[in-house]
Amino acid sequence: MMEDALQRLHLEMEDDYAQRCQLPPEEAQDLLLQEEVFDVPSGYTSREYLNAESATMYTAARNRMSSSLLAEQWQARQSLPLWRYRQKIVDMIGQNQVIVLTGETGSGKTTQVPQFVLEDYELNGRGAEVRVVVTQPRRIAAISVAERVAWERGEPLGRSVGYSIRLESVPPRPWGSILYCTTGVLLRRLQRRDGATGISHIIIDEVHERDLETDFLLIVVRELLQSHPSLRVVVMSATVDSSIYDRYFNNCPVISVPGMMHPVQVFHLDDLPHLMGQYNFIVPKFPMARITDEEEVDTDLVANVISWIAEEYSQTDGSILCFLPGLDHIIMIKERLQKMPAGKKMIILPLHSQLPAGEQRAAFTRAPAGLRKVILATNIAETSVTIDDVVYVVDSGKVKEKQYDPSLNMNILRVQWTSQASARQRQGRAGRVRAGFCFRMYTSQVFCTMNEHQVPEMQRVPLEELCLQIKAIASAAANNTSVSAGPSHSNIVRFLSKALQPPNIHAVHAAIRLLKDLGAIDMQENLTPLGMTLAKLAVPPRFGKMLIYGALLGSLEPVLTIVAAACFRDPFVAPINKRDEADKMRASFAVGLSYGSDQLALVTAFEQWTAACSQGQGFVFCERCFLAPATMKLIAGMRQQLRRTLLEAGIKEQFIKPTSQGSMHVARSLLVAGLYPSIAGSEFCRESRGMKNATKHAYRWRLGFKVNNGRVLIHPTSVISEKQLNPASHYYLVFQEKVQTSQVFVRGCTLLPALPVVLLSWRVKISSEPPASELTGDWMVLEVEGWLKFLIDRRSGSVLLELREA
Ligand code: CDP
Ligand code: MG
Repeated sequence: MMEDALQRLHLEMEDDYAQRCQLPPEEAQDLLLQEEVFDVPSGYTSREYLNAESATMYTAARNRMSSSLLAEQWQARQSLPLWRYRQKIVDMIGQNQVIVLTGETGSGKTTQVPQFVLEDYELNGRGAEVRVVVTQPRRIAAISVAERVAWERGEPLGRSVGYSIRLESVPPRPWGSILYCTTGVLLRRLQRRDGATGISHIIIDEVHERDLETDFLLIVVRELLQSHPSLRVVVMSATVDSSIYDRYFNNCPVISVPGMMHPVQVFHLDDLPHLMGQYNFIVPKFPMARITDEEEVDTDLVANVISWIAEEYSQTDGSILCFLPGLDHIIMIKERLQKMPAGKKMIILPLHSQLPAGEQRAAFTRAPAGLRKVILATNIAETSVTIDDVVYVVDSGKVKEKQYDPSLNMNILRVQWTSQASARQRQGRAGRVRAGFCFRMYTSQVFCTMNEHQVPEMQRVPLEELCLQIKAIASAAANNTSVSAGPSHSNIVRFLSKALQPPNIHAVHAAIRLLKDLGAIDMQENLTPLGMTLAKLAVPPRFGKMLIYGALLGSLEPVLTIVAAACFRDPFVAPINKRDEADKMRASFAVGLSYGSDQLALVTAFEQWTAACSQGQGFVFCERCFLAPATMKLIAGMRQQLRRTLLEAGIKEQFIKPTSQGSMHVARSLLVAGLYPSIAGSEFCRESRGMKNATKHAYRWRLGFKVNNGRVLIHPTSVISEKQLNPASHYYLVFQEKVQTSQVFVRGCTLLPALPVVLLSWRVKISSEPPASELTGDWMVLEVEGWLKFLIDRRSGSVLLELREA
């Protein structure tokens, strides 16, 4: 067993957690609780104890039924479409190991089904024997629903109802309770041996979202059923077509609850000129849609439509819910609305999974008298949370999706058209309380061209993160010497073939190859120490490797910026009429660098922006340098999140805490560590000139770059100009993305000398025997494939080589 430096860097659990994490003590405790929230202390499992508790629960349930204090709660529950079906639902769950339940959003699935189960046991005198775990794809849904259900039961959170999401838990008591958790929390629990012990019911909610984790959970749970015959599973979905889920579970029974919806009148963009003709903003002329670019949302139009609704319907109340792709659009529209006259009479509330929980909750409260509530939300408000007083929906038609383009090297978020199914869901949000209105910011023609359903995440994102998780589960199972009741998934391909809609086999192989290239798994597909750490980082492994190496080599700061920026769109904006000026400004950030680099230019820009912000000049700086302030803020937020993720994965705090700077040289080399094999080598190519006269060939030599045998061009937005390169030198170029248009362009480029390419592109391990100087923080020993050993200076990135016997 290799005593790896990486492993030594892991945190020991008994360390003072709060101090290490720099989190307030309660939050640090939550971090620990998340692991333990499922544990049932042994005293609570004795028959005597359970009987006594069940008796208490029976009395409490009876009292609740007649309590006048809960009249409002009972009334709210009884008015839900699901209420009439409660006996049927409970019976079906009792008689079948798995059932599928579908129903309109807001019909009461998430809040009622777990309560029906618990109440049924309570009144049968077996209340203490239930432990219902309900998974939610979204953090905010888990919290808001748990709060609601605790309220419906007339209790504070943490008694019979609780929640657990990453970094935040209010666990319920370990018997007779309902736990709402994010899908990831349950997945991590089930990865342990005996992870399902103590859980009587698993309710997998919002399966129609088809996110990667939910599809992953479905595989794991299906395997669990055989070894846990008493476990009960409910699969819940908002869509009507559920046949794919019941087929997956061996044709299990389905119950579909009809919804209770008011009619919603739908207007498309083509209807707007007619509808709003008198209004004093310019309504786009149709059939020419103004929004043609898939990437964009017409923020002017959206803001104008919202303010028009507020004025046109000023005599009636009802909230306006606007669906936007992401936080950046939410911020832009909020700012725009605040500047408009109608904005004075609005209370504008963002609803986005990245907002702090407190701010998210505001969206569910009633607006103060005289103010119109406007909720600017992502698709989080589509099915997983219900805001009751919405009457008007404004749908941008866009969604931000993780996407996989085979020519890209990583997971990126793309803004694009949503599906017809989700457009209908959005529309339905307007008909909760009374007849409503839905304004679509796209034409009826665009609607027809949208996909019917969204493609499941498993089929559109790179799978390396998922494959790494599968390996992590397998190795955890293998480390348990006693008989494992857990699922067997040592073979990635075999495991994924059991998915609801298995991913493309080529995508799986590509992911495995990439994990090997990264050194996360070895040739036999065993997890390496690097892989174990990467599995704990909730970031794509390529980024994760850059971050880990950055931390170890004392150059985390620039790497954090590079990785954070890769999650968002380019913060450099070039207005059409000032493109040259903007390009010059961008290039100026690369001036001090010995080799050109787009990533490092951004790092420099970010550092200067941070400095400007500390003097209150952040906005001015952005204006001057053609940077989008909203994106810069997102990058800053993401950096903090990444730092926290590294701590969670067990990298020691001394490597992670903010430092004033980091070496750009090291950061440059680390780009290779993460992005390899996306590397192009320079070549001199001969280009013919004056082809008219065949006898007089004239050639000129031109520097170019090649990937394998194909020529690539540096994207024109790059700070690197081929003209400035020395024809006598040999260069390497590491790139983030390859784009095919008329020619193949590479974007996000960094030039490099050959040495780091050779050293960092291969499977580099941290050596098992670092010299004493490693501990002083100056040198780092790295080992390549056991035959080449070298020292890297943490500050300069310079390398001292030492060959060893083969
Ligand atoms: O899961 P489903 O969409 O079927 O409905 P639900 O989340 O169980 O919500 C049922 C009803 O409970 C909603 O229509 C709301 O009236 C109410 N609710 C609430 O007021 N606050 C929450 N956080 C969740 C639900
Ligand atoms: Mg729900």
